[in-house]
Amino acid sequence: MTETDFSIVNAQIDALLTGETNPVANLSNASALLFDTITDINWAGFYLYNEETEALDLGPFQGKVACMHINNGSGVCGTAFKTNTVTRVKNVHEFPGHIACDSDSNAELVVPLEVSGKLIGVMDIDSKSLNRFSDDDQAGLTKFASVLASHLDIA
Ligand code: SME
Repeated sequence: MTETDFSIVNAQIDALLTGETNPVANLSNASALLFDTITDINWAGFYLYNEETEALDLGPFQGKVACMHINNGSGVCGTAFKTNTVTRVKNVHEFPGHIACDSDSNAELVVPLEVSGKLIGVMDIDSKSLNRFSDDDQAGLTKFASVLASHLDIA
């Protein structure tokens, strides 16, 4: 499989969002860039924390229709959010409480999104391939999320 050159992707997201202030537009293009540049993924997008419902709501994404709301602490996304921990799952079917939006997904990587020190949601990437995400992918995507967060004014 082709390795992703995150030095290029992360420079691209930074350039793309420089001077842009609309968070929906920025998250939309971030999901499109991820979906377009990372090989062997079937979903890339965001869940954003809703303070009124205390759950995660579906945000901009690329891929199949997905669940609209995820409770804090539920599934891979809710667990990553609640623990504020990058969560890499080799086989989602072995993850307790995994939420199967697309039954074809087998591996998942979720990165918490922090803006000005406040946790605002998560970035979620799915693949049909078991054990799809490497240490390098995790490091690169964690950096991607922090570059993206530096262009989000929604804390
Ligand atoms: N599988 C996720 C739900 C979101 S979808 O994969 C897009 C989870 O367990 O949180």
